[in-house]
Amino acid sequence: MSKNKETKQTLNTLDGKEWVKATKSWFVVNPKPRKAAQVIHPAKYPEELVAHFVRFFTQENGWVLDPFAGVGSTLIACKEMNRNSIGIELNPDFIDIADSSLSKIEGSSTSQMIPGDAYLTIGQIEQHYEGEAPIFDFLMTSPPYWNMLRKSRGGNETVHKEREENGLPIYYSDLVLDVGNIESYEEYIERLGQIFDRISPLLKDKAYLVIVAQNMRDVDGHMKPIAWDLAKRLSKTYALRQEMIWCQDNKRLGCWGFPTTYVSNVHHHYCLVLQKI
Ligand SMILES: C[S@@+](CC[C@H](N)C(=O)[O-])C[C@H]1O[C@@H](n2cnc3c(N)ncnc32)[C@H](O)[C@@H]1O
Repeated sequence: MSKNKETKQTLNTLDGKEWVKATKSWFVVNPKPRKAAQVIHPAKYPEELVAHFVRFFTQENGWVLDPFAGVGSTLIACKEMNRNSIGIELNPDFIDIADSSLSKIEGSSTSQMIPGDAYLTIGQIEQHYEGEAPIFDFLMTSPPYWNMLRKSRGGNETVHKEREENGLPIYYSDLVLDVGNIESYEEYIERLGQIFDRISPLLKDKAYLVIVAQNMRDVDGHMKPIAWDLAKRLSKTYALRQEMIWCQDNKRLGCWGFPTTYVSNVHHHYCLVLQKI
């Protein structure tokens, strides 16, 4: 092959320097204080985190899907970056907050929050776009970390207490379809697997997915390696390409387990990078 033959840049529009910087396997994003209305959501991720990946995995006017969209952080970042996006969210209160934030951002790109269960709604999107699918260039999301918000453990306890004292919700909903309410860990991983399997036909060939998850210590002290188990289950449908580690450097340190038991301050999340093959 000729040395001068140019390879078409299909993934993004970054120059070499920006590309190299963005591929470092860990990075720090410190969430800024949330807007007042968004505080109602127990576990939103920062728009800057979304921007980090959307910049790398999409071009302007591309289409992005978030099946667990919460208060719309993925869609907000996409609209600010002139990408089209669709979000699915089970809790209608979060949809209202997302819609209100999105309405304040100028731009011509599409951002649509759809209320409902991710599994069922994917079927509806598929029907709606029949003939045009696959439509999405990229998927970015963070599912509930099993039912951990319902459990008080180590570092979580203080956060729970503070939210409770301030009259804020400490988990997402009481809805049966909320994957954060599934009791069995194995069933939870399988349900997520089924949801992401169902999404595959809507993604373009070779589209990337970034799924943010965390390994968590259960109340009995045993670890539930959510990120690793999810990566393994999703590898049935997608190719696991890498994990990137999102570090948080502005969280309070707690003195857990002192002076007898090792309990770490977990200030990082795994961003699983997968690809449709
Ligand atoms: C970790 S939060 C996502 C937060 C989001 N990244 C943000 O920044 O706002 C997970 C979300 O999944 C939603 N959820 C739980 N079960 C769901 C389901 N079956 N279908 C769709 N959404 C669901 C919860 O209500 C919650 O808002």
